[in-house]
Amino acid sequence: MCGIVGYVGRQNAVPVLLEGLARLEYRGYDSAGIAVVRNGSLRVHKQAGKVRELAAALPKRLNGQVGIAHTRWATHGVPSDANAHPHLDMSGRIAVVHNGMIEDAAVLRRRLEADGISFSSETDTEVLAQLIALEDCGDLEEAVRRALSKVHGAYGLAVLDANQPDRIVLARNGSPVLIGVGERQMLCASDMAALVRHAQQVVHLEDGEVASVTADSFSTTTLDARPTVKTATSLSAEDADYERGGHEHFMLKEILEQPDAIDATLRGRLDTRFATSRLGGLNLTARELRAFRRVHVIACGSAFYAGLMGAGMLESLARLPASAEPAAEFRYRNPVIEPDTLYVAVSQSGETADTLAAVEEIRRKGGRVLGIVNVPGSSISRAVDGGIYLHAGPEISVASTKAFTCMAVAFALLAVHLGRLRDLGPADGERLIRGLAELPAKAAELLQHQDEIVQAANWISATPSAFYIGRVRGYPVALEGAQKLKEISYIHAEAYPAAELKHGPLALVSPQLPTVAIVPDDELLEKNLASLEQINSRSGPVLAVAHLPLGSLADRVIQVPKSEPELDPILLGLPLQLLAYHAAIALGRDIDQPRNLAKSVTVE
Ligand code: G6P
Repeated sequence: MCGIVGYVGRQNAVPVLLEGLARLEYRGYDSAGIAVVRNGSLRVHKQAGKVRELAAALPKRLNGQVGIAHTRWATHGVPSDANAHPHLDMSGRIAVVHNGMIEDAAVLRRRLEADGISFSSETDTEVLAQLIALEDCGDLEEAVRRALSKVHGAYGLAVLDANQPDRIVLARNGSPVLIGVGERQMLCASDMAALVRHAQQVVHLEDGEVASVTADSFSTTTLDARPTVKTATSLSAEDADYERGGHEHFMLKEILEQPDAIDATLRGRLDTRFATSRLGGLNLTARELRAFRRVHVIACGSAFYAGLMGAGMLESLARLPASAEPAAEFRYRNPVIEPDTLYVAVSQSGETADTLAAVEEIRRKGGRVLGIVNVPGSSISRAVDGGIYLHAGPEISVASTKAFTCMAVAFALLAVHLGRLRDLGPADGERLIRGLAELPAKAAELLQHQDEIVQAANWISATPSAFYIGRVRGYPVALEGAQKLKEISYIHAEAYPAAELKHGPLALVSPQLPTVAIVPDDELLEKNLASLEQINSRSGPVLAVAHLPLGSLADRVIQVPKSEPELDPILLGLPLQLLAYHAAIALGRDIDQPRNLAKSVTVE
């Protein structure tokens, strides 16, 4: 969703800001803009459309040593030039870029209009710009603090004042803001991606903090002006993580990175001596972990499907009743929070608004929550009691692939860990630790053979709709497979538990409707084969993702290396990512930035 970048230093801010915006594109956006201070006045350019269109429209000689820029994903008001950020106050002196949402913007706007303030956009952000200008006291930081004490809502903010061109003022409440510390220059951004090229260290603002950043230093305070102490940490992300590295799309790069990403999630966590996993970040003692009677997972989108997969692993390995629920449902049903339930929040970005709100709800009611999160230092990672970082590296493509797979791997580690504290015997522990250790090599083997998948993808791309079916362990695989196809190819796809077909969906099976079936070689094989027969007898074409060849039961089979039964779902999902990818290629879709979708959904 929306992205912020700012620069103050000795270079021309314009190219740095444009490069930062390009790095934020993956988050999804519909308009972009930039403001720099030049000779005591603001130069602002903003428009609907892509960053490269904005760059092309900028005057050749636009420059300034301080500036802010933004990519916007419309929430208040349509995507348009006027609604794009930065927004200015009426006098044109204060510029604001903002992620999040000011809840009382409509009321404040009416009040300001009654006082004669005129607005040029429909946005909540413009209200902030006007309020900051009205609080002018010669100190931008103080004006921002005063203005923010008058609003309710979520924000990550960067503010520029033409009268104080040596600084950018930042504020955070519920939406991330980072300061990137460089040599005689500072950046700010809502996402590490925009910092990596020019900063060596990073500082994360906390909710309720305001910062003033100049080329050589920064200071932070609370909203009521009490100074806070921040320590800068080295930037962990490598620049190359944000490049396509010779691949046509980030999605393909991230699919192919999965052997390494799985390896990174496992690194240092496999304990062969005690046949268990080592998870240093849980912050819960063995005794506390043994006392849990249930596990409930909350997440959104693909992370929710990973949660369903994880709940299955937890139930079968730790013998704990485990369930998963979309975070947006959970947070609004006034959930009963039980002290003997372990809650697990799953998120690649660590910033998804509904997941974060669900975590806060659990904590407010005294529950314990672990995070399975990819982005270090993200809001969810800091709001939870403890957790497991994926270490999968930045995921840029909107459609999640390596993060999804690593979430499933992290759940397997957690399930083995809890299992070994309960009823899982050492022989099973050893078997699973070995199975986990073998995953990277098996994933690499699987990803080497794409020809059959490309053919299957060309075939599926010619249909308007597809079913995905799986059973028990295979069902979350089917759900995520269907999600991938929908997201990037725009082909309608629905996933069903295989046995549910005969209770309704079978009515649609015909030669025109292909079914993608997940068929592991496990105790449910016979049952899965029976479902294929039902489809065959209605002349429905079948593409099976399976461990065995399956003979005439399937029109096409993509064979996947066998793992331990409980771990099988992890590898069975990989061909479905490639299937969606190649189908979307065949249809000429925008792979990394599919229509209407955002990478990190930081508002409701
Ligand atoms: C968005 C993305 C999905 C992602 C979901 C949850 O909808 O498009 O790919 O699964 O958010 O994101 P998270 O960062 O919490 O895993």
